[in-house]
Amino acid sequence: MAGAAGRPATLTTSPASHPTAPADALFLPGPVLLLGAPGVGKGTQAQALVSEFGIPQISTGDLLRGNIARGTELGLKAKEIIASGMLVSDPIVNQMVEQRLQADDTHHGYILDGYPRTLDQAMFLDRTLSESDAALPVVAISIVVAYDQLLHRITGRRICPACKSIYNIYFNPPKQDGLCDLEGSQLEQRPDDTEPVFAERMKTFEEQTAPVVEHYRALGRFREVDGDQPVEAVTAAIKSALLDLRQQGRNA
Ligand code: AP5
Ligand code: MG
Repeated sequence: MAGAAGRPATLTTSPASHPTAPADALFLPGPVLLLGAPGVGKGTQAQALVSEFGIPQISTGDLLRGNIARGTELGLKAKEIIASGMLVSDPIVNQMVEQRLQADDTHHGYILDGYPRTLDQAMFLDRTLSESDAALPVVAISIVVAYDQLLHRITGRRICPACKSIYNIYFNPPKQDGLCDLEGSQLEQRPDDTEPVFAERMKTFEEQTAPVVEHYRALGRFREVDGDQPVEAVTAAIKSALLDLRQQGRNA
């Protein structure tokens, strides 16, 4: 099945901030947080939602990797931290997100992919949004997948450096070994997609991000989604959760 941007399937993703379709006239999900461990499918699902609703994906991981690729001062600071599986400092990431949220394309909502990742980031975001004139409150979706499956997904992931499409050598291989279906470019592996760094990223997730999931669960505008199903089924579960959460908000 081709995505709205003409990509080969829903197992693709776009650059960090990339609206690809006009906003749905009937339903706009507003600000959405996609939470979950490394490899649960945040990027894959964010891209599916971008295609569906025309609101931008804001991935802090992609924004940081963009800085690394451009050799900026921020990129130089982030490179080693990302390679170690630790988190880039809260002030740096908060400032990056605050700036990105000021762009015009966020007025109808956005999908935050991989942020917030610490309780400090969550507090910063909650404060920033409470001071904004956003029409809808933020809702959070946590995607859950078992550890062994995640390791397989992470080590099997390959990315097109040109169009950022995501492949997986086990679950969604390109038509031609090692080459992007769309660009013909040589697919790349993220430097942090090795088994030892994955183990560190999971540790970081359990210690610093699991409390963020609990923070949003306690606030109530929250759903957990089983990410261990075909991509399209996960997308359908997320869309259904979003409709439900917004309906709940209207009835409150
Ligand atoms: P980031 O880039 O956000 O990495 P992550 O959270 O570890 O998540 P991933 O991008 O690895 O996984 P994903 O959930 O997006 O999965 P995907 O859809 O690609 O962050 C990287 C680093 O940047 C961090 O470690 C940190 O250092 C820094 N950073 C980022 N944000 C930060 C923040 N807020 N604060 C501080 N530091 C920050 O899918 C994975 C694979 O699975 C793909 O191959 C895909 O094809 C496959 N797949 C997806 N869905 C399915 C499915 N349903 N079935 C089968 N295969 C599937
Ligand atoms: Mg990602």
